[in-house]
Amino acid sequence: MAATPMTAPRAPRSTKADATKGQLELDDIQSIIVGAYGRLPAASYLMLTIEDAARARTWAGELSTRVRNAGQGPPNEGPCINVAFTFCGLRRLQLVDQALRGFSRELQEGMWDNERRRRILGDQGRGDPERWKWGGPKNTEVDVLLLLFAKDDPGREALFADERRRFKDGGLGLIERIDSSDLGVPKEHFGFRDGISQPRLASLTSSTDEAHVVADGEFILGYPNGYGQLTTRPLVDPIHDPDGILPDDPSGSLQRDFGLNGSYLVFRQLEQDVPGFWEFIEKRASATSGSKEEARELLAAKMVGRWRGGAPLVKAPESDDPKLSTENRFRYHREDPDGLKCPIGAHVRRSNPRDSLLPKPGSAKSLAVNKRHRILRRGRTYGPPLAASLDPEDFLRAAQALREGTADAGNGRASRGLLFLCLNANIGRQFEFVQNTWINSPNFGGLYNEPDPLIGYRRDGAESFSIPADPVRETFDAIPTFVDVVGGAYFFIPGVRSLQFLARDPKPLASAYSAPAPAASYSRTSFSVHLMRVANRVMQGTIRVLRRQPFAALRNLLDVIVRPLAVAGAQFLINLRRRDEDLELGEERLLPREDELARRITGSMTHFLYKHYRSGVAERAGNTKTYGLLRARFVVAEDIADEHAVGVFQPGTEYRAYVRFGGPGPLVTPDIRNNGILSIGVKLMGVEGPKLSDDESHTQDFTGISSPTFTTPNVLENLKLQKHVYQETEAFYFINPLDSHYLDGVMQGVYAKSHGSPLDLRYWSCVPYAFGDGRAFQYSFVPTEHRRSKVPWRPSDDYLREAMVKLLAEEAVEFDFKIQLQTDPHRMPIENASVIWPERHSPWIRVGKLHIPAQRFDSAQQLAFARQISVNPWHCIAEHRPLGNQNRVRRCVYLETSKVRQRINAEPRIEPTGDEEFV
Ligand code: HEM
Repeated sequence: MAATPMTAPRAPRSTKADATKGQLELDDIQSIIVGAYGRLPAASYLMLTIEDAARARTWAGELSTRVRNAGQGPPNEGPCINVAFTFCGLRRLQLVDQALRGFSRELQEGMWDNERRRRILGDQGRGDPERWKWGGPKNTEVDVLLLLFAKDDPGREALFADERRRFKDGGLGLIERIDSSDLGVPKEHFGFRDGISQPRLASLTSSTDEAHVVADGEFILGYPNGYGQLTTRPLVDPIHDPDGILPDDPSGSLQRDFGLNGSYLVFRQLEQDVPGFWEFIEKRASATSGSKEEARELLAAKMVGRWRGGAPLVKAPESDDPKLSTENRFRYHREDPDGLKCPIGAHVRRSNPRDSLLPKPGSAKSLAVNKRHRILRRGRTYGPPLAASLDPEDFLRAAQALREGTADAGNGRASRGLLFLCLNANIGRQFEFVQNTWINSPNFGGLYNEPDPLIGYRRDGAESFSIPADPVRETFDAIPTFVDVVGGAYFFIPGVRSLQFLARDPKPLASAYSAPAPAASYSRTSFSVHLMRVANRVMQGTIRVLRRQPFAALRNLLDVIVRPLAVAGAQFLINLRRRDEDLELGEERLLPREDELARRITGSMTHFLYKHYRSGVAERAGNTKTYGLLRARFVVAEDIADEHAVGVFQPGTEYRAYVRFGGPGPLVTPDIRNNGILSIGVKLMGVEGPKLSDDESHTQDFTGISSPTFTTPNVLENLKLQKHVYQETEAFYFINPLDSHYLDGVMQGVYAKSHGSPLDLRYWSCVPYAFGDGRAFQYSFVPTEHRRSKVPWRPSDDYLREAMVKLLAEEAVEFDFKIQLQTDPHRMPIENASVIWPERHSPWIRVGKLHIPAQRFDSAQQLAFARQISVNPWHCIAEHRPLGNQNRVRRCVYLETSKVRQRINAEPRIEPTGDEEFV
């Protein structure tokens, strides 16, 4: 974990989509989201099941190079392919858990998995999922939807043959193939023009019609939606994306965005009873004036809200008008508030009520509310038309033949309908809302017992449909069901990079904490952050001046008096504020949500590494700069008391060791600019017995910093500090009046200063460790000689290393290894690292020595080796188990960040033996 990282990180690399600026990353967006492939009328929808996940991932990777993206523009010829996944499919492909949990509840639960959803969608009775042909509880689970689009039938067959070969080789099986049918005209099976009214994506349209221009984020994840926010979507800790495939989360959370440029795709196969619909119309349409044919046309149009040719009733109330066949610039409340032209209950009026919504129909606000429930429809017809002419007269003839069972029943028995596909960023707020609150609701717009006359769910067959008229409205009761759902599923249609991410082999993370959770999230840079940053720089600048000579020398003098007083005062106040945690000696207590905190810290640290070192040589995320990795010997004293002969501290035992002296992070800086708290890492080798972290088998590590308390009392505060560090406002962690850490600031401040050499300093473990069963201890490396190397007047960038080189060229250095046993659980806490364990409760006892012989250690090879090894207090035997929340979290943080570092550097992970040779 980071010690006191006071140096400012570089500005982060910007890989984010210009999402917040409203620019779509078209190359990453599957094309079906922005267009309907109008020139490719022969579509095939393949429902696939994953039989072999590993092969399926390879298939998905290969497919990612072939899916049509929006950057390629609308296709003239085709073929085109798109792909989408159910939740179950994503899980089978072993998408990381954290991403899975980031999907909307609707995707996770699926279309029918709970009663509430079946009710919302009206999937009951005839539409019960138990009866579905695919996608229901009795059918094979659909994992993948492959969408194929071709110019004509032969093109579609060729495409299908090719894709079938590929997905079979890729470990996928075909559950269902549904082909679209081409009716030759842009109409659906009842004979009405379809696909007229669509919302327009704000970034892609020149339209100024307020009713239809909708925020991109309503359909594409990762862009601002109608509320100006980014819809919740699956994010991934950078630790799960070591190859940097995914884009950064545009909101600046430091996570990777699996959802960016994706969308949710709703697919429902809606079977249409065309004979039933037209026979109902024929039976109920009464010719009060004009011909029967006109009455029929009118009733049908009133139910839909548009004439068969497409003209909207609001604009053409009396008869169809071919000039208005694609007219969409109209409002209901403004032009027809009482539904005298287009009935309130008509299909199109209720599936997009435009300006008629409360609280103020006719207002801009009403339109804005309406726009939060828009869907992008991408449906196509399937099955042969009842009559090729799509003319009601011919439909009625076919219906009669069907009833009578005569030869010209033709296609009558074939199933036909709409493959309803729609895209939205929020299934609950968009598709399900439209289906439930508008289409299926019997009380839509103040109506009574009137669900959508065309497609609404019929509870008891007594539902009606009314046509407002002056002086009296006309009501039709017992409206039959004309449309049944026979299959369906919710899918996620990923961006191209997310598809590539899905295709890579999942890498299990090694430590217990590595299970996924959202990483630390950081708010976007606001004005106040800018201000804090400026103030932070000014403070740092001042401190930097004071850290140089002659102030450095003055400071040493001052420390003799001030430090003991400041420490005593700060400790007194820290202890005054503490409550007794009621723990036993050596007892630990988990913090609330500690696992998640661990994952957040790990996530943001690894992300930091990727951001800063992706194309360079990665260093440690904390205790970053290596001053030197030295060879040493650790010798346990012969004369230690029996009660101290625990674990590695067996009298007279000697271990070979490496000692790493390091500076704070998070970046490598000139030594005079570090924050003044240095660190030590000691790795004993040849230690027998099982280790708590299984990545090393014969090491025992000790770590310490040059301050007796840690920068933060616990991991929760550490997460806050990290946020400030990465935001370059770290001073405000300490002095924020609303959440102050003044006392920790004082404790760090009196120890943080310019040092002459890392070999002069005393180092403390700051956090406790087990000392056998039921006991805890802290340790400290104390130089045996009092040396005070001078801070040069003109310090070079690496003057600390140079000071070590100079000293060790001539003489050896020794540190006493001292321990302090916990004797009072409250005054010597396990879970709070801001408290100095008082010596009067338990004295420091020398149990060993660290000998650092004279040596040369500054070769490039030896410094590179320092990067390859990992010092982690969990490299230890059980007797010395790390204790307390910061130690528990270090297990994951150190392991994962060292793996990331070594992965970036393409360097092997090494467990040293001490036999290494350096030139
Ligand atoms: C077999 C079933 C369906 C048929 C026959 C059908 C038919 C139609 C027709 C003819 C139009 C007018 C053309 C146009 O504006 O593009 C239309 C519009 C529309 N339909 Fe459907 N539809 C069906 C299912 C659905 C479903 C399930 C939904 C949503 C849950 C839906 C939502 C809409 C919407 C939002 C419009 C556009 C309204 C507007 O913006 O003015 N439809 N439908």
